[in-house]
Formats: sequence, C-alpha cells, structure tokens
Amino acid sequence: MTTDFPLFRTTKPTPEAERENILAAPGFGQYFTDHMASAVWTSADGWQDRKIGPLEPFSLHPSAAVLHYGQEIFEGLKAYRHADGSVWLFRPEANARRFARSAERLALPQLSVEDFLASIEELVRADEPWVPVSTGEESLYLRPFMFASEVFLGVRPAAQVTYSVIASPAGPFFASGIEGVTLWISSKFTRSAKGGTGEAKCGGNYAASLAAQVDAKQHGCDQVMYLDSAGDNTLEESGTMNVCLITADGRLVTPALGTILEGVTRDTVLTLAGDLDLVPEERPITLGELRSRAADGSITEVFAAGTAAVITPMVGFKGEGYEFTIGDGTPGKHTLAMREHVLDIQFGRTEDKHGWMRRVL
Ligand code: COI
Repeated sequence: MTTDFPLFRTTKPTPEAERENILAAPGFGQYFTDHMASAVWTSADGWQDRKIGPLEPFSLHPSAAVLHYGQEIFEGLKAYRHADGSVWLFRPEANARRFARSAERLALPQLSVEDFLASIEELVRADEPWVPVSTGEESLYLRPFMFASEVFLGVRPAAQVTYSVIASPAGPFFASGIEGVTLWISSKFTRSAKGGTGEAKCGGNYAASLAAQVDAKQHGCDQVMYLDSAGDNTLEESGTMNVCLITADGRLVTPALGTILEGVTRDTVLTLAGDLDLVPEERPITLGELRSRAADGSITEVFAAGTAAVITPMVGFKGEGYEFTIGDGTPGKHTLAMREHVLDIQFGRTEDKHGWMRRVL
C-alpha cells in the first residue's frame, strides 16, 4: 500500500507580503495555508486518491452522512521552527495512534500511522514558508480530520469516508496568554459518561460542549470545567484541555483516564514531572478536594495542558454560588517552569531525551 501524498502545487499562493502580515499576528485558527492533504476511503477499495493539493472547499452532497449523524474525528498537533530554521513535529506518532483509537470508536476506517505521518509531513513541506519564526509559542497548527462523506441517509457506518489535513499558523490559544484563565465549573452539563465517546477526539464532543462554553462566558469565565456524569463530583477536563494540579508536597496530580481525552500534552507533563522534582499522580480529584485544598493552600497551582493551549495557568474557579482563586490568583512557578520546559523541547532549546521530536525539514 502506498503512503505517498504527491504534491499538486497551487498556482495561486498567498502573496509573500500578505503571508508575512498574517504570520506577524496569526491568532488561533483564523488563517490557513495554501495547501491541504486529502484521501478518500471506500469500503470496496480502501484508501485512494492520496494527495496534497491547493486548499479548497469540499463539495458535499446534502445527504453526506457527516451532516446528519456527525460521524467525524480530528486531531491537533503542531510544527515548530527551530532557531537554525529546521522544522519539527512533536510526538506525531502519539496523535496517529489516538486518531486510530478515535476512528475505531466512531466506526470510521483505520488510517495507518505511515499514511497519517506522510500526509502531515508532505503538507508541512509544501507549506514550509507558513511555519512561523517563533518569539514565544508561535507554530503551525495541523488539523487532520476524517468524516463520513457517503451520500446516504441510513444510519450505519459510512461506506465512503474523506480524510484531510489543513494547516493554520497559530499564536496563543487564549488572548490572556500566560496570565491565566478562569473556569466555570458546570453543574448543569457533563461532557461524557462511561461507555460514551469521552476518550475519542470527535467533533460531537466539542459540539456538545458549546452550550456549556456559552454558560461559562455568561458567568465571566474563559472556559468550562466539567465534573463527571456519575455524580461523584470529580473533575474531568476543561472544554479544550486536560487539567493538572500541583500540591504543596510536590505532586503533579491529574484525573485518571476513562472518560477524558488522553491528551498528548497531558502525557508529556506526567513524563516530565520528575524533571521539576514533582511526583506524577493520576487519580480521581473531587471538587471538594479542589475547593478545600485551594482554601488551605495545599493545592498551590492548577494548569491546563493541551496542544492548542500548551500549558495555561488556571487561576480562578466559579460555580453556582461560590468562587475561589488558586494561590494569589497569579500563575504559579511550577506551571511556568513546566511551560518553559515543554516549549524548550518543542523548539529544540533543550535535549530531547525522550525522542519526541521528528524532523520534517
Ligand atoms: C488541541 O489542543 O489541539 C485541540 O484540539 C483543542 C481545540 C482547539 C479543539
């Protein structure tokens, strides 16, 4: 089976001056590069039509199954330009494996790790000038996704599926950046239940999170924090990222897997905890523990971990009838140190002891 994604270069690339303007202040998810990767799967023929072509709209029949039943998954990862101009991916194999797990859960076809990596690497090569020179955390955000494109209204796994990767130059996900974000602890909405799709990275999870996100904004918060759906009042994750706590006795604690997204950055900080003399711990964390230990100072810091969010301090929480800050409401020293450590690895400023970086150019 071929894993080649041949390049059909656009004849109308974005003019250099316009691209440089965009790269000077990319924001998040607002601008897109000149090309996209794509491939089509059918139950009869498997994966075909792999290519890198000009970025262009899809033409979808109104009955395409994804528009009705939401059979869709996606990933998020980044390409980083190092000081010597070279371009690298961070742990793309982990995204490939998670994509495969999400595909299984959503009854979508498996895309091989080789195809996943080839599509991304070829797209980054085609759009190399779009990888920002970073002054902080700027990178090229890559968004692989797969959806049911079969023209059919019956409810069953689609017999035709489209895979694609688009790329978007990215700065900080939150406007407040490293000053930190505030979280609305929802007692109205949950994100997932045992046996549901909580561990999969599927569009449906994010669609279902939007009403909670609106609620969070109405309460003056940046994001929502979910509790479990079983009524145990344990922390799950935030709308777009995993949550980690730092305790006064030197632990880095994060909710155990089961119904939450198995974040690549989550796994990264658990692996790197020892470098900051922290002991990693995965276990249930109740809201009661968070509130009482934030009050007595034995939880000293809370932060979010995610590809888009990198490491973002979580400085304050609100829920129905209560609110509290973590420490003095400013980013903690371990949070900032972990953020620097992760970015140093991603931007090649420190040794890549775990073999996480994969060179593209
Ligand atoms: C990511 O961090 O890559 C995400 O997918 C979160 C969000 C932008 C949906």
